[in-house]
Amino acid sequence: MSEMGQLDRPPARAEGDSARDPLVEAINVHKSFHRHHVLKGIDLVVHPGEVVCLLGPSGSGKTTFLRCINMLENLDGGRIFVDGELMGLEETAPGRLRHLGDQQKAAQRREIGMVFQRFNLFPHKTALENIIEAPMQVKRVSKAQAVAEAEQLLDQVGLADKPHHYPSQLSGGQQQRVAIARALAMKPKLMLFDEPTSALDPELVGEVLRVMRELAEQGTTMIVVTHEIAFARDVADRVVFMDDGVVVEEGPAREVINNPRQERTRQFLQRVLEEGPAAS
Ligand SMILES: Nc1ncnc2c1ncn2[C@@H]1O[C@H](COP(=O)(O)OP(=O)(O)O)[C@@H](O)[C@H]1O
Ligand SMILES: [Mg+2]
Repeated sequence: MSEMGQLDRPPARAEGDSARDPLVEAINVHKSFHRHHVLKGIDLVVHPGEVVCLLGPSGSGKTTFLRCINMLENLDGGRIFVDGELMGLEETAPGRLRHLGDQQKAAQRREIGMVFQRFNLFPHKTALENIIEAPMQVKRVSKAQAVAEAEQLLDQVGLADKPHHYPSQLSGGQQQRVAIARALAMKPKLMLFDEPTSALDPELVGEVLRVMRELAEQGTTMIVVTHEIAFARDVADRVVFMDDGVVVEEGPAREVINNPRQERTRQFLQRVLEEGPAAS
């Protein structure tokens, strides 16, 4: 547990303005791997109900940033607040911070659902068993309640008829929809998606994006790393374009995608649109 130095406080907020408080506030986030400076001062604010798409070339730090938000990586500098809570750090004395222990981090992480490029389902559990695992083990929800909620979630992702299928008996798109249901089962405040359709055959991408679009319409707060430009344009409220560990450009989704201001954004979008998401 290393000391983190001086505490930067988040900007003071007006009393009674809680509806406008950000759900996520990342301030000057830095992360290095050995001497490789991967995140070079990322700032991001996401309000409740907002959908933010994170675009950028391979290696620009998108995955690392998501992993910092849910504390799979310790920050080297900066702060991340989720729902007002400082993530992964505690104040040991006024202005002195240190990294939380694994158990405390796990408790904070429960509030955040994450969906990965690879579906990461438990292979020896059925779809239903995958979904009820965390609510029962972590939240001590009764089996009857966990099953009832899981059935509802399977219905929501269009898999009401597959509760007893094992991952190997499901297509990639179906497995990814189970993974989304599994994340939702913990009733997270925030959903993180890391290229959720990149590992899928092209004909299976649409069914996963459809589920994500419905989640967005229901008001789920989402940060989505994706190369699906049409999804970002149509579903995201805001697009953030990252390159080489910095935010190059951000703004309303349609504005950034239809009319990028920065040359780097323009080149990236052109390349993705020409080559298709799989080639980016
Ligand atoms: N655990 C790690 N150890 C060392 N280098 C890493 C690690 N994770 C990521 N990197 C490096 O950080 C950079 C950004 O990676 P990543 O966040 O995965 O980018 P993106 O998701 O935008 O493709 C890459 O150069 C990658 O090799
Ligand atoms: Mg990545």
